[in-house]
Amino acid sequence: MTRVLYPGSFDPVHNGHVEMVETSARLFDEVVVAALINPSKGDGLFDLDERMDMLDGCFDHLPNVSTTSFDGLVVDLAREVGADFIIKGLRAVSDFESELQMAQMNSAISGVETLFLPTASRRSFLASRLIREVARLGGDVSTMVPDSVSSRLAGRSAP
Ligand code: PNS
Repeated sequence: MTRVLYPGSFDPVHNGHVEMVETSARLFDEVVVAALINPSKGDGLFDLDERMDMLDGCFDHLPNVSTTSFDGLVVDLAREVGADFIIKGLRAVSDFESELQMAQMNSAISGVETLFLPTASRRSFLASRLIREVARLGGDVSTMVPDSVSSRLAGRSAP
């Protein structure tokens, strides 16, 4: 049995993330989706509990997916949940440098390895930062996020 951990900031979760989880759920026996703090991204728009609430409603159609949140090192969570490895999505070459560095750091401090999955090209422009910005300025992002996120974004202002 293979259990994988799919970590992210998910501030908020968008359809590119959902696609990654759906792909992982097809490839592996169990997928744990975890909202974590990215220290390089500041406080963000939603707190961890809110991000977790939004994640909760997104994967009811996938029985082998569970969700959690964690305030600490991703490799500690990987050990805690018994994950065999970490999954990360790559949208473009620009993601690769920082993702490779994180994967190598995580491997060096814990031995936990990371597997990269490509995002479908039709969703490669999706980024939580841009979705927050467009929503804050009144743009329509409803086709880019799950319904539960769309309603939460309405009326919220990004930092
Ligand atoms: O969606 P993101 O912002 O690309 O996700 C990044 C995240 C949250 C997975 C990363 O910042 C992380 O692992 N944070 C937890 C703290 C940690 O383990 N830092 C060391 C990373 S090498």
